[in-house]
Amino acid sequence: MSRNADRTTVRTLDNASEDLQQMADDVRAGLLSDPKDLSPWPKYFYDAEGSELFEEITVLPEYYQTRTELSILRERAPEIVALTRCQELIELGSGSASKTRTLLDAMTVEQGRSVQDPARYVPFDVSESTLQGSAERLVEEYPALEIQGYVGDFDHSLERLLARPRSVNGFRRLVVFLGGTIGNFTPEKRREFLGRLRSGLEEGDHLLVGVDLVEDPRVLEAAYDDAAGVTARFNKNLLSVLNRKLGGEFEPDLFDHRATYNPEESRVEMWLDSKVAQRVPVVALDLEVPFEPGEGMKTEISTKFTHESVAEAFDEAGLQLLGLYTDEENLFGLALGEPLSDTGPYSPR
Ligand code: SAH
Ligand code: TRP
Repeated sequence: MSRNADRTTVRTLDNASEDLQQMADDVRAGLLSDPKDLSPWPKYFYDAEGSELFEEITVLPEYYQTRTELSILRERAPEIVALTRCQELIELGSGSASKTRTLLDAMTVEQGRSVQDPARYVPFDVSESTLQGSAERLVEEYPALEIQGYVGDFDHSLERLLARPRSVNGFRRLVVFLGGTIGNFTPEKRREFLGRLRSGLEEGDHLLVGVDLVEDPRVLEAAYDDAAGVTARFNKNLLSVLNRKLGGEFEPDLFDHRATYNPEESRVEMWLDSKVAQRVPVVALDLEVPFEPGEGMKTEISTKFTHESVAEAFDEAGLQLLGLYTDEENLFGLALGEPLSDTGPYSPR
């Protein structure tokens, strides 16, 4: 056990998830916009309960994303590790890190790493419970792996995470961002995020981003509105978070979960529709939020990409798209990139 304790640390980079003032400001802006819109702040879904519900989503028959991304990784991980020659894997929004094992296997086995010369895994997530759990499991399973976990919010601490000193040899880094989480950003946030990420990469580093691809809207909508109702519970759990943290009095049973594909924006949108006319007090905001019968509140977006839109997003951020690995049915993609050498530091336009 003590040998494992030496190989693993979990540190807190920021306390953003406990910043109630920030949350109050965000939620107020969302509840006062028209239509009501909480989708710019996906992190509020992931309290302990939300993180568990998300894990349930990943094994639903309708939610093809997780198993498809895993199958691509199984096939391509050795190639990706060989190509990038990475010694350190940084994972943003790592969650349970179940798919990451494919890459860790390739890093520790294929590169012949030993306990004396360990590879390093750096998971980063806003959910402390999830991060602790996955770090403990992985350190047991991988004797040739050192784990440095960080709890934090990438809106705040991406720079600090990437500014961590490299080892003397100058570790080559692979930064991975799986699960299609990049699709949960608004276009502006995505641009900003990729630009900030690009600024933290050095020559020789790489980036691997999981993107869900545009396909049949019926398939897409089913993935976010499963028959067992798990996604509906996940969506409504956001109301419980607002109740607990901000003294809200939302009654989850008085809202319907809805998922619709918006073809103009290439994205699935999750909504909560009020079943009745109601006024919901939110004590910490000093607000009473009125809902008309049937009125919707947008809670999440999940953008779907094409080869072209991925290339464009990378290009805008000063990243060279080296390849988009997909499954045979073109359901999901893994975009591999590296910093374009002729671009300077990112400056927002
Ligand atoms: N990568 C995993 C989990 C995806 S779910 C997979 O592919 O299955 C999105 C993950 O991102 C969750 O674990 C959530 O806690 C984390 N997350 C969401 N917003 C975040 C933020 N602002 N900063 C850090 N992590 C965040
Ligand atoms: N990154 C996941 C996705 O966009 C998150 C997710 C899956 C999600 N199902 C959801 C977010 C339902 C909100 C509601 O696929």
